[in-house]
Amino acid sequence: MLDGREIVLGVTGSIAAYKAVLVLRELTAAGARVTVCLSGNARHFVGPLTFRTLSGRPVLDDLFDPQSDAAVEHVAIAERAHAVLVAPATANVLAKAAHGIADDALTTLLLAARCPVLMAPAMDGGMWDHPAVTENVATLRRRGVTVLEPDSGALASGLSGKGRLPEPAAILEALRRVLTPVRDLAGERVLVTAGPTREPIDPVRYISNRSSGKMGYRLAAAAFRRGAEVVLVSGPTAIAPPSGVTFVPVETAEEMREAVLRHAGAATIVVKAAAVADYRTKAPSATKIKGKHDLTLELTPNPDILREVAATARGAFVVGFAAETHDVAANAQAKLAAKGVDLLVVNDVSQRGIGFEAEDNEVALLDRWGGHRALPRMPKAEVAEAILSHVVALRAARPRRVSI
Ligand code: CTP
Repeated sequence: MLDGREIVLGVTGSIAAYKAVLVLRELTAAGARVTVCLSGNARHFVGPLTFRTLSGRPVLDDLFDPQSDAAVEHVAIAERAHAVLVAPATANVLAKAAHGIADDALTTLLLAARCPVLMAPAMDGGMWDHPAVTENVATLRRRGVTVLEPDSGALASGLSGKGRLPEPAAILEALRRVLTPVRDLAGERVLVTAGPTREPIDPVRYISNRSSGKMGYRLAAAAFRRGAEVVLVSGPTAIAPPSGVTFVPVETAEEMREAVLRHAGAATIVVKAAAVADYRTKAPSATKIKGKHDLTLELTPNPDILREVAATARGAFVVGFAAETHDVAANAQAKLAAKGVDLLVVNDVSQRGIGFEAEDNEVALLDRWGGHRALPRMPKAEVAEAILSHVVALRAARPRRVSI
């Protein structure tokens, strides 16, 4: 599977660096040709000789030593690598990579690399949960770097928590996935909605909700990577649309409805991750509302776009989302039936750290054939992959709905 693949194994200064030796053994046993690149601090934990002996190749370590292989070779090695794997990746290397700092052989090579990059973090004592680390990981993931979740358990300091290097077998499996992109949506036309809608009150104010659009954008990006033609209809968000998708920006629920119905006819899969405002103001003011007096807004319900698409786009597989804060299971079951969708992705938005605005999500998948699958808490990019894999599996197992 890794036969003949050129892999750069980056090792950084963590006590888990000794496990990089096991990762190297597994890589070479799987047929990979491995060049080891040490960060400035890695050699405090395991010496270059160990890696040189086991890889059978020179080790890149000191960028500024004219005698070192790293001084001349790091760009050429980055160019011919099929993947760069950093294991263990310390909080320090995550920060440097996120900010484009290149102050040693490994970080310089990471900037030069144009191949997939996989990072397997390891760190002690709650560092993984520090907001700085969370933001750096989010930045790297947004740029397409695969950052694995560390394992939980006993840490080197004697503390217990999340921060252990994932097992070498799990790292290798992730590397295989990175190197063999799945193209199981080739030929599909996927319509994704994302973000909130904004319903104007007057020219400067609006009603909206806390949706960031991240879940829908991750779904659109994942569907594109897996070979689909993707249309992304999005309410206003602060994030850049993924490259490769046809982007249709909208503002209000009515604009979203119009755009969705325009594209749904051609879609084979519709995923409605948008948080559509349920109400709009009945008569938005044409001028800015002035004064400090009590104000009553008269609201009127917006059209239910999902229900309309599920009823009309009969050839498409329709996926809806359910944002619930209470009685989650019962509400979700009722919503699955009421909306007439094939699959409902349910999240409990009352929980901190998942759902609206968060980087992670924890969802359950309910399908119209009675299936129920709870997924663990994961980064939204991984949730997106899991949802799409579930759609592919359900479509293979279940006949399509057809017009009669
Ligand atoms: N949805 C839609 N049009 C609306 C409201 C919701 O298409 N006017 C879609 C959303 O994109 C999502 C699903 O319906 O896929 C469920 O949204 P949610 O806000 O959870 O449910 P609601 O239908 O708004 O019901 P409730 O507010 O009662 O929970």
